[in-house]
Amino acid sequence: MALPIVFAVAALVVYLVLKVSNRTISPKIPGLPAVPGLPFVGSLFDIGSCHSRKAQEWAQTYGPVFQVRLGNRWIVFANTYDAIQELWIKQQSALISRPTLYTFHKVVSSSQGFTIGTSPWDESCKRRRKAAATALNRPAVESYMPIVDLESSASIRELLVDSQYGEKEINPAPYFHRFALNTSLTLNYGYRIKGNVDDAQLREIVDVERAVSNLRSTSNNWQDYVPALRLLSGRNQEAVEMRKRRDKYMIDLLNELQRRIKEGTDRPCITGNILKDPEAKLNEAEIRSICLTMVSAGLDTVPGNLVMGLGYLSTPQGQEIQKKCYDAIMQVYPNGEAWDACLREEKVPYVMALVKEVLRFWCVVPISLPRVNIKDVVYKGVTIPAGTTFFMVSLGN
Ligand code: HEM
Repeated sequence: MALPIVFAVAALVVYLVLKVSNRTISPKIPGLPAVPGLPFVGSLFDIGSCHSRKAQEWAQTYGPVFQVRLGNRWIVFANTYDAIQELWIKQQSALISRPTLYTFHKVVSSSQGFTIGTSPWDESCKRRRKAAATALNRPAVESYMPIVDLESSASIRELLVDSQYGEKEINPAPYFHRFALNTSLTLNYGYRIKGNVDDAQLREIVDVERAVSNLRSTSNNWQDYVPALRLLSGRNQEAVEMRKRRDKYMIDLLNELQRRIKEGTDRPCITGNILKDPEAKLNEAEIRSICLTMVSAGLDTVPGNLVMGLGYLSTPQGQEIQKKCYDAIMQVYPNGEAWDACLREEKVPYVMALVKEVLRFWCVVPISLPRVNIKDVVYKGVTIPAGTTFFMVSLGN
């Protein structure tokens, strides 16, 4: 073959390979402001490791709702309360699904399945959400107060003793890990970890769930957006290792519950109710998904809020707030009955406002859980086609 023809064919092949690898799985949306990016990677370099903060910066230039290319996806970011209400609330039935991402869905979750909040929408997801909603509605949560009482008392008592009544500096995070995990384990399996904050099972679950949370993160895994990186990435190995460690305790927890049910020594709990109900419409994989959700949901969120809230309360301004809280509590419960009463009723507006403010101010899920629309949605005259991924920037502005 003549040299010019060889060059022409080679150039054509290179062109086609580049064109195919530069394709996106969701299209660029006409009419929606777009952050400029590079071929193949889009804005991955620019967005860095804190998506929510960078998105807030971009919102100054591109407005409240814009699109960003991350590798092979165009993603819509919503940055303001009004924009989030317009998309997530007013068009909630369209934004009901979740995207699947390579590291979390294909590597980490290949054995135990997905949590409810990361499951794409289908009939199975509908059944699991219904089961979780029933177990976590207001009257149900009120009935869990003795569990919250036991776990908070245990953690506060140990914090006091281990810090020698405030004389010795200690890291409070493990105490809140145990609080969050034990609450979920009791609800889900009728079982709690009795050991202290160094308990081996507690440490294993906390460490693995922390690592899984990073593997699920929208910002830590470039291989989710650039498929070629899956061939090289050391993240695969870490994901496989975490999956194996997670399988071990998830299987142990379920086996242990099944053993207790067989012996008749089990305590009432969400999974036990499902396993014992002959009418239950959930299959084994769905039960595993509910268990996974319950083990990870609180552990990923509650300790972060408690640590940040407690940190603030220990500052000089926080100490003023503590005094106001104490006075407000004593006004409603002058005879020392507040500890028991707060398990049944919420009667101190200042304390309720403080709790909501802690949840609002220290946003522990700043990009929320990503969504996918199952039908077209319209935002300010722009049609966003079904199958688009949405990130909510919930840091506030
Ligand atoms: C400070 C504590 C918590 C925060 C900030 C938090 C935050 C969130 C967020 C942002 C979502 C995604 C919502 C969405 O996009 O629809 C979510 C989903 C979920 N959370 Fe939490 N969460 C917390 C505690 C918990 C606890 C303690 C449990 C269970 C014991 C729990 C169970 C769930 C479940 C089951 C879902 C999935 C709901 C669905 O997809 O329908 N969360 N949470």
